[in-house]
Formats: sequence, C-alpha cells, structure tokens
Amino acid sequence: MPVVSGSNAFELAEALAGELGWEHHPLEVRRFPDSEGYVRVPQESIEAIRSNPVVIVATTFPDSGIVEALLMMESIYDVRSGDMRNLKGEGEQQLEDAGPGIFLAIPYFGYSRQDKRFQQGEVVSAKLLARLLTRRCDGMVVLDLHAPAVLEDLDVPVSFVSSMPEIAIHLQDQVQPDFVLSPDKGAIERASHVAQAIGCKFSYLEKTRIDAHTIEHKAKDLDVDGAIVAIVDDMISTGGTICKASDALRRQGAKAVHAACTHGLFTGGAITRLANHVDGVHATDSLPNPRSVVSGAPAIARGVKDLIQRVL
Ligand code: R5P
Repeated sequence: MPVVSGSNAFELAEALAGELGWEHHPLEVRRFPDSEGYVRVPQESIEAIRSNPVVIVATTFPDSGIVEALLMMESIYDVRSGDMRNLKGEGEQQLEDAGPGIFLAIPYFGYSRQDKRFQQGEVVSAKLLARLLTRRCDGMVVLDLHAPAVLEDLDVPVSFVSSMPEIAIHLQDQVQPDFVLSPDKGAIERASHVAQAIGCKFSYLEKTRIDAHTIEHKAKDLDVDGAIVAIVDDMISTGGTICKASDALRRQGAKAVHAACTHGLFTGGAITRLANHVDGVHATDSLPNPRSVVSGAPAIARGVKDLIQRVL
C-alpha cells in the first residue's frame, strides 16, 4: 500500500512506509519561479494509489506546507475518484471511483496553538485548517496536537497519536532522568506519561504567557536537589518556556537539565538560547530540525492502523 509525500516529509514518509511494511511513493512537487506550488501524481504511482488505501504525509508548516498538503490531497482525490481528464488527452480520461481510502497524516499541525478565539475578531485558525485539510480525506492522523479538543467536531475521524512513548525510551537510554517536569499545565498529560514510562518523579509548573516572547512561571518548590531533570513539552518555539523552567530548576539544585519535545520549531535563535540554559535538547523529526533524535514514524503508524480499522 502506498505512503505518499511531498517536499517536507520525505524521510518521515520513508520511515513510516518501513514501519507499516508499505511502499513510499514520492509525488512530483516543485515550485514555479514566482514560488507557487505544483504537485502531480507520477504515472508509475497511479495504479498503486488507485488499488489500495493511501496515506499522505504532510507537515502543514510553514504556510507553503499547507498549500502543498491541499494540492497533494486534491491530486490523490482526483486519481482515486477516477477524474483523469487532462489537456493533452493522455491515457484514459475517466476511471471507476476507487472508493474511500485516503488518509492524511500530519506530523506537525501548523496553527495548532490558535485553538480558541482569545479576543473578539480572531480566527480559530486550527479549526479552519482542519476543515480545509479534511475536505478530501477519509480520516486524519495528527501527531501530538497541542490541544486535541479543537478538532473534535470534524466530518472525518481523527486519530490523535503521541511520540511520548518513544521520547521516554530515548530519554531513559540517553539521559536517565530522576525527575520529569511539565513546564505548564497544558503539557501535564504528555510529560506525566514520560515520567510513568521511565518510573521517575514528576511535577509541573504554572505558566502565564505575557506575549509571544515573554512567559512567567509561578514559584513552586520542586524536589530536584542533585537531580537530573527532563522538561517535556509538545513543542519548543522560541525556547522561552524551557529556559525559564530550567532556571527555576537550577535555582533549586538540579544537577542537569534536559529539554524534550515532539515538535522542534526552534525559532529566532532558540538553539543558541537553549544551549545557555540546558544540557541537551531532544526532539522528533515531525519537522526538519537540528535536534531531531526520535522518529515520529512509530506513533504515526499506530494512528494509520487505528484509522484503517475504524474506516475501512
Ligand atoms: C504552549 O503552551 C506550548 O505547549 C509550548 O510550551 C510553547 O509553545 C513553547 O513556546 P516557546 O518555546 O516559545 O516558549
């Protein structure tokens, strides 16, 4: 069965195909000189895509990734529904509808943090994107979505999967933490899963975001004197959350502090900033980043299997 990818998830799609025992079919993707995107299903992949369920792997970040994902979905939909009309009149123009079997796997779902209308007049961007992205598919797998509640009322089933089991294995192997910290209430479920899997102590901080670059943590006594601590979050962007949490841990005697996340965005000098505050940074390959050490493929494979059971 085919796993297809465009320009931003080639390696992850290759790994996912390996996990599932399927074939990886890269689509033809390029950019016109003015930067607009182009997607085509290669002739040699058409039969495989029409005769089996297909998984499209697309990270919807940055914005160009969203357009590419939409183009990929539409091209696969046309091929599977049998609409093969083309200007040159090449090949058969209309084929039978191959039926349901298009699944979208999103390693990193861009805009996931705008999951509420925080102020009057704003767009709930995560919901808008989800509606657009599910227009042409029969189910969607999303890896470590910031707040899953925002995708609850879609027309197709969503499988929410997490790389925390693999992150726990990696941390246990490389870091051997004595303590896992969630840097805010939103990451408690994920981070506590890691603590449980490792079998170490756990706590969390309460965070207030002042603006995109400034956060504050409420003071809290943590039992970390002499401990190796792993701070676990869904994503690291500017690194501000991790650096502040690490400072609090060091003040309370932590011997070493590591940061782990699924989505390593690392914006605006985050890698350098983090290097001054933590002893190591560990991320998955949900999007290309310089600290990618854990594969997101096993988690996405779990979601694909779940959806196939639920839908087909
Ligand atoms: C927010 O609640 C997220 O879970 C992360 O904690 C946040 O996005 C990290 O952003 P930054 O690295 O810019 O502090």
